[in-house]
Amino acid sequence: MKQAMIGLALLAAGPAAAQGILPYDQPSRVENGARLYTENCAACHGADLAGQPDWQTADADGYLPAPPHDETGHTWHHADPLLFRIVALGTEAIVGGDYKSHMIGFKDTLSPDEILDVLAFIKSTWPAEVIEIHNEINERARLYSN
Ligand code: HEC
Repeated sequence: MKQAMIGLALLAAGPAAAQGILPYDQPSRVENGARLYTENCAACHGADLAGQPDWQTADADGYLPAPPHDETGHTWHHADPLLFRIVALGTEAIVGGDYKSHMIGFKDTLSPDEILDVLAFIKSTWPAEVIEIHNEINERARLYSN
């Protein structure tokens, strides 16, 4: 029964749902996201999305540098809802415990649509095969959400 329901969910999903919730194929949303990225994100993640040097090594105070958002990073390993929550709430809130992070939440600065736009801009810069893998990650994540 459960399997039949998953099958139905996949049938109902279709190709559009596999793209997830980021409007990365809508030029006006991507353009808006690029502007928002420059204003809010580039200082840490880099104008070219390359992140900070040695981004996998925490500093003496235990803080990680800002990771890249291009295909060398792991932004594209995360499904849309998690990316949205990271940007809205910040990494400390997502990881919990006493995790320390410079990645603050932007929910008081950016509207939900603006957060989707900035993430759409980031996704629009990825090579076609990375976009395809990310769409598959979204589709798989949907199976575990309610
Ligand atoms: C003050 C510096 C700073 C700014 C500004 C900033 N970030 Fe970050 N961001 C970080 C750091 C540092 C991390 C790594 C967080 C950690 O694991 O502690 C991070 C992590 C992330 C991640 C998770 C990436 C992954 O591979 O897991 C996303 C997504 C992200 N940032 C998006 C954004 C977006 C979008 C903006 C602008 C709206 C932004 N960030 C602005 C510092 C920043």
